Amino acid sequence: MSVERPSSLLCARRRLLVAACAAVGAPALAGAPPVLLRFSHVVAPDTPKGQMALRFQALVHQRGGGRIRVELYPDSQLWGDDDEMEALRLGAVEMLAPSLSKFGMAGVPEFEVFDLPYLFADLAQVRRVTQGAVGRGLLERLARQQMRGLGFLDNGFKQMSARRALRTPADYRGLRVRVQASRVLGEQMRALGAQPVVLPFGETQRALASGVVDAAENPPSNFLTQGLAALQPHLTLTQHGYLGYAVVTHPRFWESLSRVDRALVDDALAEALAHGNRLAEALDRQALATLRQTPGLRLHALGAAEREALRRHLRPVVDGFGRSVGAGLLRDVQRAIGSG
Ligand code: LMR
Repeated sequence: MSVERPSSLLCARRRLLVAACAAVGAPALAGAPPVLLRFSHVVAPDTPKGQMALRFQALVHQRGGGRIRVELYPDSQLWGDDDEMEALRLGAVEMLAPSLSKFGMAGVPEFEVFDLPYLFADLAQVRRVTQGAVGRGLLERLARQQMRGLGFLDNGFKQMSARRALRTPADYRGLRVRVQASRVLGEQMRALGAQPVVLPFGETQRALASGVVDAAENPPSNFLTQGLAALQPHLTLTQHGYLGYAVVTHPRFWESLSRVDRALVDDALAEALAHGNRLAEALDRQALATLRQTPGLRLHALGAAEREALRRHLRPVVDGFGRSVGAGLLRDVQRAIGSG
């Protein structure tokens, strides 16, 4: 199911894509032209991803003496979930940071391991996976889809929102829930008796406002910055799944950079990612504190038994992933989680 986009915006995006198609085959300019790096993402600037991108831009500008220009396009201003990966392939954008959930449908289903419900207890466990050998291996797999993975970034754990509290599996029955384009997330909602509706992030608010969907899962910073509290009066602190990102570029762009520029961009990104990862927990706490004070919004904490009931209900989703995508990968991830 999809929601209509303003047609002028769609047309502008199509024109850019067509122009980019032509440019892909064009010969490189002679000399050493300035570098333009367009970084497109779908969330607000005051989120871990938005802040990481701003830090990256500042570092590159400061160190590149103005020769490398980073243009930031937050809030799906340039590309959205539907077209950003195609735009990267066509050279219409140089850097993206899609959520890990979005790489499965792009041909790298192993990334959906991060969507498995209740796999991670906290961000320390996530980092044992993303910052170690398993994470490196996953980034390398992106080459299969003409992407170069440059690093991981955390947002946090997702909470469920709706027009009612969602404490037990039975509470989900019949709800249409917006999910990202991930088979695991679809299975998760079906296991709860809900109907998953795949929608781009940039269309979620409108879909909730118009009643196309009834519920959504978001980490607090996204829920807050998208203004969803005005539409979803109940936020249940299920903490059921992780949301994080991989920063990617196209190998063609990466190889077009001189060795010096590549090192500059790589170092700036590593520092920006470290900054974003440090900030993620603080922004999560701040967003929750703000949401607790938001008139008209009720937050519901789950007890240990309620959380355990949800986890048990969702266990078949984890087993199904092991069968369909890779029991070996799941074992490696679980081993990394337990290695702390
Ligand atoms: C979503 O679609 O819900 C998230 O991936 C958005 C984001 O980039 O945090």
